[in-house]
Amino acid sequence: MAKILIINGPNLNMLGIRAKQIYGALSLEQINDEIKKSAESHSAEIEFFQSNIEGELINKLHEAYSCFNGVIINPGAYGHYSIALRDAIEAISLPCVEVHLSNIYAREEFRRHSVISPVCIGQISGFGYYGYILALQAILKHIKAD
Ligand code: DQA
Repeated sequence: MAKILIINGPNLNMLGIRAKQIYGALSLEQINDEIKKSAESHSAEIEFFQSNIEGELINKLHEAYSCFNGVIINPGAYGHYSIALRDAIEAISLPCVEVHLSNIYAREEFRRHSVISPVCIGQISGFGYYGYILALQAILKHIKAD
């Protein structure tokens, strides 16, 4: 059974409260429930991790190296500038899918660039919480084909 780690970065614990017109009305817990249902239907094992702290996200990625088959990550704002997060993803050599709830290309200039995209197998941006479901399908397909 494929084991997928789902990581959410800074401020994503505030979903459901924070800028609902951009990120939607669901809380992170409600989004995770939707992902859980999808994982069950795909017989995938999943674990969730959220932190507002860059080093904790990096430590979790390092831990994932030996016990997961893939990673789905919404890096929040760190995706736009954290070379350390980028290097951690590269270091663990696991397939990684980048997710953004909002369409980062339709927003402020500083959001239109991701430093982690080059070390991810793909990016999903703009589909709200459904982006995580799409990412799960994509990563499972990728792992199977590998
Ligand atoms: C985000 C987009 C980022 O620019 C922002 O800093 C976030 C959320 C998204 O999911 O759309 O925190 O990653």
